[in-house]
Amino acid sequence: MTGLYIHVPICIARCRYCDFYKLTPNEWDNIDLFIQCLETELQRLPKEFLPDTVFIGGGTPTALAPEKLSDFFEAIKRTITLSCVVEFSSEANPGTLTPEKLSIMREGGVNRVSIGVQSFNDKALRLLGRIHEADQAVEGFQMLRDAGFDNVNIDLIQSIPGMTQADVLADARMAINLDPEHLSYYNLIYEPGTPMTHDRDAGRIIPPGDDEEADNYFAVKALLEDSGYGHYEISNFCRPDRECLHNLIYWQGGEYFGCGPSAHSHWNGARYGNVRDLQGYCDQLLKNENPFGELERLGTEAKARERLVTGLRLTEGVDLSAFERLSGTSVDELCGPVIDDLIEEGLLQREGNRLALTADALFISNSVFSELV
Ligand SMILES: C[S@@+](CC[C@H](N)C(=O)[O-])C[C@H]1O[C@@H](n2cnc3c(N)ncnc32)[C@H](O)[C@@H]1O
Ligand code: SF4
Repeated sequence: MTGLYIHVPICIARCRYCDFYKLTPNEWDNIDLFIQCLETELQRLPKEFLPDTVFIGGGTPTALAPEKLSDFFEAIKRTITLSCVVEFSSEANPGTLTPEKLSIMREGGVNRVSIGVQSFNDKALRLLGRIHEADQAVEGFQMLRDAGFDNVNIDLIQSIPGMTQADVLADARMAINLDPEHLSYYNLIYEPGTPMTHDRDAGRIIPPGDDEEADNYFAVKALLEDSGYGHYEISNFCRPDRECLHNLIYWQGGEYFGCGPSAHSHWNGARYGNVRDLQGYCDQLLKNENPFGELERLGTEAKARERLVTGLRLTEGVDLSAFERLSGTSVDELCGPVIDDLIEEGLLQREGNRLALTADALFISNSVFSELV
C-alpha cells in the first residue's frame, strides 16, 4: 500500500499547544495561490504513483471557504489517479463545519473524517485555545453523520491541566456515546515555543504528574476496550476493521508522498521534507522546482532501527520474519542484547514470531524506543 498526504497550512486561529505548520487567514489570504502550487506539486509526482490512501491534514482543511474547498478537491482529481484509493481521510475542526463543506468533501471523494474534538470540557477547550465549545463538537459529529460519513475518528487529548481522572473519563464516555468508528487519544505534548509551554515554564499551569497521566491513560484504555474499541496503536483505538489504513502505512514503514508545506515523504528508500514556509513553498513551485527543504537517505542499519520502533507502536508488535525480509537483518543481529534486557525488565515481549511492547511499556514507549534507535 502507498499513501498520499496533503497538508493544508491554514487555521482560523492558533491553538495554544499546537506546533503544526499553519498560518491564519490574516497572515495568508491567497488560497488560490496555495491551490495552484499544490496542483503543480501533485503534477510533479511520478506518473506511476497510484495511492491506496489519501489523507488531507493540516492545519485545518475545513478552514477553507466552500468555493476554495471545491477548487482544492478539483485540483486533486485533475492530477492524481484515485481509482485505487480505498480510504480518503480529511481532518476537520468542529468550529469550521457546515453541511455545504461536508457535501463538497464527499463529492471530492472523502470517505473518512477525523474531527478534532480534544475535550468535551469547555474549561479545558478554553485553556487549549480552541475556537469551539463542546456543544459544537457534538453538533459537528452529528453533521458528519447527517452528511453520510460512516467512518469517523474523534481526536481527544488527555492530561490537560486541571482535569481530574473523573473529567478525563467523562470525556471518554462522551466520545463513546457518539459511537465513532475510531478514537485517537493523545497525551498533551508541550512543544517548544508554544504558549502552553511558556505557561508551564512560568508556573501558570501545572501539568499532572507522570503517575497521574499513566493512571488516566490506563483508565481510558480499559473503558474504551470495555466499550468494544480495540487498542491497536499506542494512541489509537477502533471498532473491528476500522484501523486508519493511511497511518498503518507510516507505522509499517511503507512509502508515501507528502505534499504541501512541511509535509514529509518516504519514497524509494529516501525521506524528503518540504519547506515549512507557505511563501517559500509557493516560490519554489512557481519556478517549477522541488519544494524539498531536506533530503535524508538512511543507511541500512538506521532504516532497520526506524522500522523496528515505528512497528512497535502497534500493539500487535512487529512480525519478525517480515522485518528480516524487508530490512535484510534480524532484530537479534540489530540489537539482540538490548532486546533481551528490555524483555528481562518486562518492557518487551516475544511471542512466537512477534516482538511487542508489554502493556506496562505502552505509556513509557519513548524511553523504550530510545534504547533501540
Ligand atoms: C491537524 S490537528 C486536527 C484537525 C484540526 N486542525 C483541529 O485541530 O481540529 C491534528 C491533531 O493533533 C493533535 N495535536 C496537535 N498538537 C498536539 C499536542 N501538542 N499534543 C497533543 N496532541 C496534539 C490534536 O488532537 C489534533 O486534533
Ligand atoms: S490543533 Fe488543529 S486547529 Fe489547532 S492550531 Fe493545530 S492544526 Fe490548527
